[in-house]
Amino acid sequence: MRIDIITVLPELLKSPFEASILKRAIEKGLVEVHMHNLRDYTDLSYNQVDDYQFGGGAGMVLMIEPIDKCISSLKAERDYDEIIYMTPDGVTLNQKIANSLSLVGNIIILCGHYKGVDQRVRDAYITKEISVGDYVLSGGELAAAILCDSIIRLIPGVLSNETSALTDTFQDNLLAPPVYTRPSEYKGLKVPDVLLSGNFPKIEEWRENKAYERTKTLRPDLLNE
Ligand code: ADE
Repeated sequence: MRIDIITVLPELLKSPFEASILKRAIEKGLVEVHMHNLRDYTDLSYNQVDDYQFGGGAGMVLMIEPIDKCISSLKAERDYDEIIYMTPDGVTLNQKIANSLSLVGNIIILCGHYKGVDQRVRDAYITKEISVGDYVLSGGELAAAILCDSIIRLIPGVLSNETSALTDTFQDNLLAPPVYTRPSEYKGLKVPDVLLSGNFPKIEEWRENKAYERTKTLRPDLLNE
């Protein structure tokens, strides 16, 4: 898989890809992540990439020309399955979207800034608009990092034990059951006996029941989906 991220703040996006699972996925060659600084695609002085909005109103808007140049140069090199725009008015990211995006080959992610991008970019180039929740961030970069993390960890071979992604919360629309580790008792707080029993069918049944109970209490909406 190849992910190209278009941003005015590439430095904000570096560290998530330089640690832990994402770093290892890149080192293993399972995914390539390339940052493109939008300011490298403008001919205007001071590397200007944004301007005032027509009709008046507060806030700057990212201009179409540098975005067009950047996307066109990427598309001239290879085909893309999706061109995604990170925006609070997109569809809210969930596990189903992450699962389906983890199966594609090449994607471009465009990070918005200020008041967003010229609507003509969205109309002409964008194939999916994704939000990470009903709140507004200063830009699309942190949202893009969240999207990339949710996708990359699902690529086969990225997690050492592939079943661990399949038992994540939200796979099967259930929250994950509680987990415990050593010691089996700490200051009188005990691990449930069943987990120490060695009876694996019973442990599996207990986990399924807990996952269901937790979902019913905390996220009943998931059970109706
Ligand atoms: N850019 C600003 N806020 C955002 C959000 N909630 N999701 C995706 N991109 C954003």
